[in-house]
Amino acid sequence: MPDARPVCAACPDRAPAAGAAPQPAPLRIGPYALPNRVFSAPMAGVTDLPWRRLARRLGAGHCVSEMVASRAELRASHKSALRMSHVGEPAPVAAQLLGVDPQDMADAARANVEAGAQIIDINMGCPAKRVCNRWAGSALMQDEEQALRIVDAVVRAMQPLGVPVTLKMRTGWSSGQRNAPRLAHAAQEAGVALVTVHGRSREQGYGGHAEYETIAEIKSRLRIPVVANGDIDSAEKARRVLAATAADAVMIGRAALGRPWLPGAIARALEHGGVERRPSPAEQGAWLLEHLRAHHAHYGAAAVATARKHVAWAVAGLPGAQSFRARFHALLEPQAQLDAVAAYYDSLQHAPDEAPAA
Ligand SMILES: Cc1cc2nc3c(=O)[nH]c(=O)nc-3n(C[C@H](O)[C@H](O)[C@H](O)COP(=O)(O)O)c2cc1C
Repeated sequence: MPDARPVCAACPDRAPAAGAAPQPAPLRIGPYALPNRVFSAPMAGVTDLPWRRLARRLGAGHCVSEMVASRAELRASHKSALRMSHVGEPAPVAAQLLGVDPQDMADAARANVEAGAQIIDINMGCPAKRVCNRWAGSALMQDEEQALRIVDAVVRAMQPLGVPVTLKMRTGWSSGQRNAPRLAHAAQEAGVALVTVHGRSREQGYGGHAEYETIAEIKSRLRIPVVANGDIDSAEKARRVLAATAADAVMIGRAALGRPWLPGAIARALEHGGVERRPSPAEQGAWLLEHLRAHHAHYGAAAVATARKHVAWAVAGLPGAQSFRARFHALLEPQAQLDAVAAYYDSLQHAPDEAPAA
């Protein structure tokens, strides 16, 4: 008899064990059903096109582009053009926009859809001073009326195109001003399809710990999906956050630096139970080489410098990482970088296993 067990969405080659709990219906953003409920967070300078393609291939349920400036003159820059490229990116392609002016944001949304975006995400979470001084990013949470004018303009621009709009926010401007529940509800009423909440206020930056009570409150008030974000670095933590918030999905940011495989590994552990599997050095090496080749192809000559941070994150905690990093930093040619990474991971396969658990 053919095996009629459902296939695991995070790893279609593996069916869940007999007797496993039935999986909930797939999470949807508008018309798009996602393969699982573990998202990769947008991180400027990190989660570029090569990174997202790899993370999706390794099982991330959803990826959002690095933030793209909404002002037309900034959109014309080489940097924005690279950020707006989605060649070979699996659907649904989500582009994140940053800006303060509703008309600019609506125009930018249309331009990003023309460039291949299928979902538009609005950034109301970025705490960077140069961003907040212009009242963009998380600063918008201080001016709810303007924030909603932006949401409204983008939703109206996207509705005729059938493009869902999502929103990423913090819990509020400060601990005394946690207005995310009100703003998230108003955004839902304006037509936003999904809200992601980083459990920190703008004032906190990345300090202290994420809190999940505000996310739980938002989830209890909204009928659209809510994604919990902040300090999630394992399947065990993801389970705790999902239980505490009743959120529909989790989003992984810094824990995935150098580990584009982590969201997929957490997704598989959530589906099958247990902890996320740490890839072998051979797998990590092969994926880093794949990432590097794509990085070199995407950025051209500039890639030799920008590859260094990805490699430094990837080898962190592995045996001999410090001296390898120093040697790698001195390399000036793409092929030399590839050869060095291949040789390093090759040497690890013969070294005792000292790598920390993912
Ligand atoms: C280097 C870096 C770049 C980031 N860039 C963006 C961005 O472009 N858009 C955005 O919404 N959030 C951005 N974030 C915030 C993350 O998406 C995420 O909300 C935050 O890191 C908290 O999640 P974590 O604790 O899992 O890292 C960035 C974070 C980092 C560390």
